[in-house]
Amino acid sequence: MQIITSKQELLQHMEACQKQHKTVGLVPTMGALHQGHASLVKRAVSENDVCVVSVFINPTQFNNQEDLLKYPRNLERDAELLRSLGVHFVFAPTPEEMYSQQEINSTFHFDFGGLDQVMEGKMRPGHFNGVVQVVSRLFYLVHPTRAYFGEKDYQQLAIIHFMVERSKLKDTFGTLQIIGCPIVREASGLALSSRNERLSDAQKQTALNISKTLFASREWAKTMSVSEVQRQVIDTINAIDGLEVEYYEIVDQSTLLPVKTFDHAIGCVTVYCGEVRLIDNIQY
Ligand code: PAF
Repeated sequence: MQIITSKQELLQHMEACQKQHKTVGLVPTMGALHQGHASLVKRAVSENDVCVVSVFINPTQFNNQEDLLKYPRNLERDAELLRSLGVHFVFAPTPEEMYSQQEINSTFHFDFGGLDQVMEGKMRPGHFNGVVQVVSRLFYLVHPTRAYFGEKDYQQLAIIHFMVERSKLKDTFGTLQIIGCPIVREASGLALSSRNERLSDAQKQTALNISKTLFASREWAKTMSVSEVQRQVIDTINAIDGLEVEYYEIVDQSTLLPVKTFDHAIGCVTVYCGEVRLIDNIQY
């Protein structure tokens, strides 16, 4: 496994792969890897000749500087895990290598067809512009055959599908396949997240009430309306000491617009557990 920090070097390796007609799987990450990332990487390794994992805490997608500063970092441990999974290349650039100073400071604007007007997009202005900025750059550098993303960040996955399949950038990415992979949970039900590293053991116990409530809501959906389930989820989570819901939206799985019935619906939640912002979702 090679750890690459320069764009130029990455491009050279990727050009060599293209010349040899090798399929390339890309897993973009921000590091602090856990078994959720490992599930994406295992799939990318098994489905492609070459697997590239990027480890880059992208400053342009953080609208909260404190969140950026506190984001867990541990490249050595990440590299050890990726080596054990059979990854060929890790791309771990510095922000200065990835972006010009102007790119870091100026706002990148992308038309998301409205997908960014709700939920995470509404709560974290500019977040998805930063995500698309870095993901599109990685796609240009790596030219992957397939790129793998977790369904935990459901809105991010919907936006990346849109970028590759329906936006004006679509011709640039040709036949690139975007592959969404299921949420990986602890035995308790807690969705794995790099941010879980910031939770104390007691907070982890508290946080597992998020997924517990989402699972219960599937039962509630059998007899209650969408707005009743929405209310019940919010009230149940907020009743637990140490948890505070930022939003819980039940939306269409493709348009991300609010729904009146549970057909093709997904419930997406963001909850503060102390200072740590956790997200999860459930398909109905
Ligand atoms: O999901 C993430 O970790 C990030 O948003 C991504 C896709 C690696 C872009 O920085």
